[in-house]
Amino acid sequence: MEPVNQPFQSPAQRVTGNWTALQSTFPVPGLGVLPVNAFLLKGSEPLLVDTGLSALSDAFVDTLAGEVSLTDLRWIWLSHTDPDHIGNLDRILDLAPNAQVVTNFLGAGKMGLLGAGSPERFRLLEPGEVFEAGGRRLHQVRPPYYDAPETMGFFDENDRVLFAADAFGALLPEPVTSIEQIAATDLREGLVAWSTVDAPWLAQMEQSSLAGILRELERLDPRHVLSGHLPVAHGIQPLTDILRTAYGRGPSSAVNPGHAAEVEAVLNAR
Ligand SMILES: [Fe+2]
Ligand SMILES: [Fe+2]
Repeated sequence: MEPVNQPFQSPAQRVTGNWTALQSTFPVPGLGVLPVNAFLLKGSEPLLVDTGLSALSDAFVDTLAGEVSLTDLRWIWLSHTDPDHIGNLDRILDLAPNAQVVTNFLGAGKMGLLGAGSPERFRLLEPGEVFEAGGRRLHQVRPPYYDAPETMGFFDENDRVLFAADAFGALLPEPVTSIEQIAATDLREGLVAWSTVDAPWLAQMEQSSLAGILRELERLDPRHVLSGHLPVAHGIQPLTDILRTAYGRGPSSAVNPGHAAEVEAVLNAR
């Protein structure tokens, strides 16, 4: 396959009757590609999860508008305030006048510092609050690892969908449209590489602590796992199995520390 030099947006992909993935792919020179995903929950109160890359603003907005009328969009759930998750926030707020941003106290504060979003359109969630929209109940979930303390994942109890924000992302050798296209060794290496970049502290985590966190997620028994940086996964066990064996055994050096700086620089270039 030709090397990818430019980010690109893929067609919207159905996950369940209500959930749709809005996938893009971002080249990381020397390391492969990183999926960058947003998601859409359709229904009586449509909810967008994250807002894509600003580098793909037109393509992202077109893809979103092909799935939902932007005037009907009611909620924008922000996982955290990194540029690859709030890239098109202000543009979508302009185009979707009835949408409110679902975030927490820290997320709102960080957006204030960044000059992103409008505080009068924030819907702040309390810790542990269950968010209800259009007959859906989204339970807040703290992902097993993350790179920003405001990070909010969730579990949709209706469709048994887990959104894990940055967690379970993977650096991949080439673009794919589904997780089945990723060879087992590429998934393992890519997941460990990304998690090392995103959360270098995992390498210091005690095995029992990590195992406990992963067990809690497995207990939810999600049918689908949505990550900001992996094609949609069906079931969580293959992902948690990789993490359980890669970490929690004392300090490790899964990837060159220079990679972290490289990926951060690429993602933060606006
Ligand atoms: Fe992040
Ligand atoms: Fe991210």
